[in-house]
Amino acid sequence: MHCTKTFIAAAAMLFSVACADTITITAKADNTFEPNNVQADKGDMVEFRFARGNHSVVTGLYDFPCAPLDMGSGFFSGFMDTMDDQAVSLFRVKINNTEPIAFYSSVDGQCAGGMVGMINADSNHTLDDYRSRAKAVASSISPRNGPYGGEVDDVKDSGDSGDDSNENMDDEENDNSNGNDNSDGKGNGNGNAAGALGVPAASAVMASLGFAALLL
Ligand SMILES: *[C@@H]1O[C@H](CO)[C@@H](O)[C@H](O)[C@H]1NC(C)=O
Ligand SMILES: *[C@@H]1O[C@H](CO)[C@@H](O)[C@H](O)[C@H]1NC(C)=O
Ligand SMILES: *[C@@H]1O[C@H](CO)[C@@H](O)[C@H](O)[C@H]1NC(C)=O
Repeated sequence: MHCTKTFIAAAAMLFSVACADTITITAKADNTFEPNNVQADKGDMVEFRFARGNHSVVTGLYDFPCAPLDMGSGFFSGFMDTMDDQAVSLFRVKINNTEPIAFYSSVDGQCAGGMVGMINADSNHTLDDYRSRAKAVASSISPRNGPYGGEVDDVKDSGDSGDDSNENMDDEENDNSNGNDNSDGKGNGNGNAAGALGVPAASAVMASLGFAALLL
């Protein structure tokens, strides 16, 4: 009886860990973010990818478009400049709460041109409002030093292991249906995690049974 309870508790823990989602946002060659309006839960990861051109992503002050949050808060990817279809590096940020986050590209006139987005927009912090006020801004501000507030990672490396190739499958689905990012990602994440973790869990049980048999 104890064993059963423990096993269920362990399974529940694994389940909640697997619920964390990865949401992919691409800085596109036409100087827009796609998608540019996403909802993310606490613990989710947002992965920014960078298409052809020179782009960045910075957390912005909602009230002052194209200006960064104070040093020590938010994130900045640094400049990602590539001639290829996709930069070799991505920028990964952890979402710590469901407060609205405005973000923009700080390269030249891209922010004023509409290269902005929102994570967890609400009725008082909307993408349309942020973007329309950004249009009136003469020049955007880049943080002096970066990157910070997130992790720069290699796009190719992130596809190497079994787990990560599952993430890539999720990403493709996200691209196809922007509105349903969260539900798609969660569904796949849970299924994959259960499959991937089921084998080691089962072999751990087998191993401990084998160990007990040896003692007898
Ligand atoms: C990208 O844009 C930034 C901001 O204008 C600039 O400082 C940087 O030199 C650019 N990168 C390249 C490689 O041109
Ligand atoms: C929007 O602002 C109003 C007035 O300050 C406040 O009462 C309301 O709770 C806010 N809504 C959200 C979603 O934060
Ligand atoms: C969440 O917290 C981590 C660790 O403090 C920080 O690096 C990251 O930038 C935070 N995320 C956001 C969106 O500010």
